[in-house]
Amino acid sequence: MIYSRYVVPLVVAVAITMISSVGCHKNGSGAVVPDPFLKDIAPFPVGVSVGYKDLTSNVSYQTVVRNEMSSVSVENAQKWAGLHPEQNRFDFTQADYIVEWARKNGQRVHGHNLLWHSYNPGWVTAFQGDSAAWENLMKTHIQTVLQHFRGRVVSWDVVNEAFMDDGRLRNVETNPKDGSIWRQKLGPDYVARAFQYARAADPTVLLFYNDYGQESKPAKVKATLDMVADFKKRNIPIDGLGIQMHMGVSQANDGIRNVIQQFAGTGLPVHISELDILASDWKKDPTLQYTDALQTKQADKYRFIAQTYKTLVPKPQQFGITTWNVGDTDSWITKQGYTDWPLLFDQDYKRKKTYYAFAEGLKN
Ligand code: G3I
Repeated sequence: MIYSRYVVPLVVAVAITMISSVGCHKNGSGAVVPDPFLKDIAPFPVGVSVGYKDLTSNVSYQTVVRNEMSSVSVENAQKWAGLHPEQNRFDFTQADYIVEWARKNGQRVHGHNLLWHSYNPGWVTAFQGDSAAWENLMKTHIQTVLQHFRGRVVSWDVVNEAFMDDGRLRNVETNPKDGSIWRQKLGPDYVARAFQYARAADPTVLLFYNDYGQESKPAKVKATLDMVADFKKRNIPIDGLGIQMHMGVSQANDGIRNVIQQFAGTGLPVHISELDILASDWKKDPTLQYTDALQTKQADKYRFIAQTYKTLVPKPQQFGITTWNVGDTDSWITKQGYTDWPLLFDQDYKRKKTYYAFAEGLKN
């Protein structure tokens, strides 16, 4: 009695809510069934970056990540400032939580990142030591982190954003605001040595070089290709290339096609690693309206990226596509004060026009 009066309606209500929040369609026999998730559609891993705070406090966020994605990248918790608060102390609490949560859901975990010019803790930027001490700092961090996550994180962005837009190595001397302390203290070959330390620490994990802006900065594409060729010549390990793809909605398709094609030409796995598309085109305009026309333009870009990746990257090299953040209001873009809607899910974690276009691109 209680069962039919309370439990059945409750189960039905929950089912209806789930179906209505993900959308539904009629199948071949005319029955209404829920739409598939991205991970069911994509012929390669499809992922998202995950933040500790959102993951531990937001049920809708958890539901979308668990249901839709087959891969998770760790947004901030594995960076130096996330893992290594003091020289002799690591804190793996938040990163372990994300990694274990994803693994429990059967998702692949991509590590981000081992070396970056940004988001380093204060003690690193203040560190005093000769070149051997700096070398030891880099090496110890890489070894400790890779050994800690060994067998649980399948791939890592070993070095992130080493190049400037003109293709030269990011450098404190030429770029005081945005230079790399690693390049400054360790010399120009620090990138190669980081990959060597990573390989020595974990021979099984996949090692990626990750950067942004290659779709609009051909000099960066060239610099990366030159680096890969040089690594091959010198027997320096590298297993994959990450194209972040934080881009404005008016980004030309040619540039997108160019970087995907050229990176695929290396024979290495290619990861679109941090995708988001700014409706604002990188302009801070509080009056911007998310009109139908703008939504369609943005959705077309998402579809184009999925289709181009699927077509131009040979299957064994399709490491996957990862978007950066889940819902529009979680985005690092909106958090930076842009009036924008850069992602696949809205502020209520409902699928957007971008989602459906992206899904179509994955399918066709
Ligand atoms: O957690 C603190 C919070 O306690 C404090 O109140 C607040 C005040 O500023 O800051 C919070 O930390 C912020 C953190 O994100 C978590 O939201 C940091 O200030 C902020 O700098 C940090 O930004 C991250 C940024 O990388 C720098 O690490 C973004 O979330 C993250 O999305 C972004 O990701 C990068 C990739 O790693 C590399 N490629 C570009 C991409 C976008 O910038």
